[in-house]
Amino acid sequence: MNKKMLIGLCYGNGYGFQSGAWRMPGVDPKSYGDFDVVVKHAQAAERGKFHFVFLPDAFGRLADVENEPPAETLDVMLTLGAIARETSHIGLLATASTTFNEPYNVARQFKALDVMSHGRAGWNAVTSSSNDAAANYGVNIPSSEDRYGRAHEAVQLVQALWGSWGCDAWVHDQASGVFAKQGQIRPINLQGKYVGSRGPLYIPPSEQGQPIIVHAGGSHNAHELAGRFASVVIGAVFTIEDARAQREAFRAAAKCYGRDPDEIKFFAGIMTTITKDRRTALDRRIQLTENHFSQRIAYLQQMLGIPLYENPLDEPLTKEQLANARPSPYDPRSANALKIAKEGWSLRDIIAHGVIDYHPVIVGPGVEAADHMQEWFEAGACDGFWILPDVFHDGIDAFVDEVVPILQERGLFHKDYEGKTLRENLGVPDQYGIDPRLKK
Ligand SMILES: Cc1cc2nc3c(=O)[nH]c(=O)nc-3n(C[C@H](O)[C@H](O)[C@H](O)COP(=O)(O)O)c2cc1C
Repeated sequence: MNKKMLIGLCYGNGYGFQSGAWRMPGVDPKSYGDFDVVVKHAQAAERGKFHFVFLPDAFGRLADVENEPPAETLDVMLTLGAIARETSHIGLLATASTTFNEPYNVARQFKALDVMSHGRAGWNAVTSSSNDAAANYGVNIPSSEDRYGRAHEAVQLVQALWGSWGCDAWVHDQASGVFAKQGQIRPINLQGKYVGSRGPLYIPPSEQGQPIIVHAGGSHNAHELAGRFASVVIGAVFTIEDARAQREAFRAAAKCYGRDPDEIKFFAGIMTTITKDRRTALDRRIQLTENHFSQRIAYLQQMLGIPLYENPLDEPLTKEQLANARPSPYDPRSANALKIAKEGWSLRDIIAHGVIDYHPVIVGPGVEAADHMQEWFEAGACDGFWILPDVFHDGIDAFVDEVVPILQERGLFHKDYEGKTLRENLGVPDQYGIDPRLKK
């Protein structure tokens, strides 16, 4: 099998994806807002030949700011502008909601980033579904039909604006005095039900032409939007079967729109705590997540269908409890939680295995992450992985030093970047303006 897996880093507040990351030894508690820290972390990912750094954007959601930092970086585009300057190959993906942004603003920000980074930008076009986000724009969240209706129009409009400055229009010829060919820079004059723009956009092509489109979602609407436009899908999946089904749904949608299904790369998430052995990793996660223990035990009760509130934290579940436990059909993580419980770990350690996290969790030595990734990749569950380290300060380096070399030795991951642009490195076809296949 010559095909190699793709790897991206999910990035946020400067600390990491576990709530206690900001208090860990060695972590600067002022990392939130420190661009030198952000750049250092992106450089660590580039040292590991990661294909991209990906920034979600939840519009300043504050979960428990008394005890925890906000999850996201200060501003996704400004952050990537800083990273672009200090890196040379890693892709730069930012989220911008199609529901709350005007396409013209998105078009110019992302194309500017693409030009500044010499062809490394990608736009994660999501519809957003949170009323908290909507409140920041003084509106209620629109219906799914309206959000996706607007999203389809917005992506087309943005791509049309990107293509409005013709590929060869910029001649910058000092001798003749011709700066650009007027006739190749044309207005787009598009007006849909939800959005419109006259254009043209005043930005020439980057080394990869224009940014790639990314999407994050799992619903039927998400399949349609991504199938039509996206090169990368950021997925949220817990089992190989679920991942395979999701990947197939996106590939089928791409085919329906006349595209080659291989043009769409499906990424599964993994949350990592990489240390020399399982015990060290569990202790690290206990330190990182202690604040949430009582809440997580309450949740574990529902996942397993047995009362746990009187269980001592340091002891395994009783034989009787294990015999009565039934994985909840409503939570895809439940079977794994029961499997870990049956291995005889204490209640504290069961939680520390990350059985209630947002993605599959690797808690242990690098080879465990490599095995998990190999199994999923070879089963056709995904084309790559987005990595959510527990603590950025040392968690990115741990992945780069302990997991990447194993994947490279097994022939599963590239040893160097294939090219300089994001399209070259992901193996995504060239495109400038709207995909001509979609005009039919
Ligand atoms: C893995 C993943 C990442 C997401 N990241 C973001 C994000 O950064 N910002 C955002 O507003 N919405 C994000 N979303 C939410 C989507 O925009 C969308 O609202 C959600 O998937 C519900 O979609 P639906 O309306 O198709 O059911 C994300 C969704 C998934 C699955």
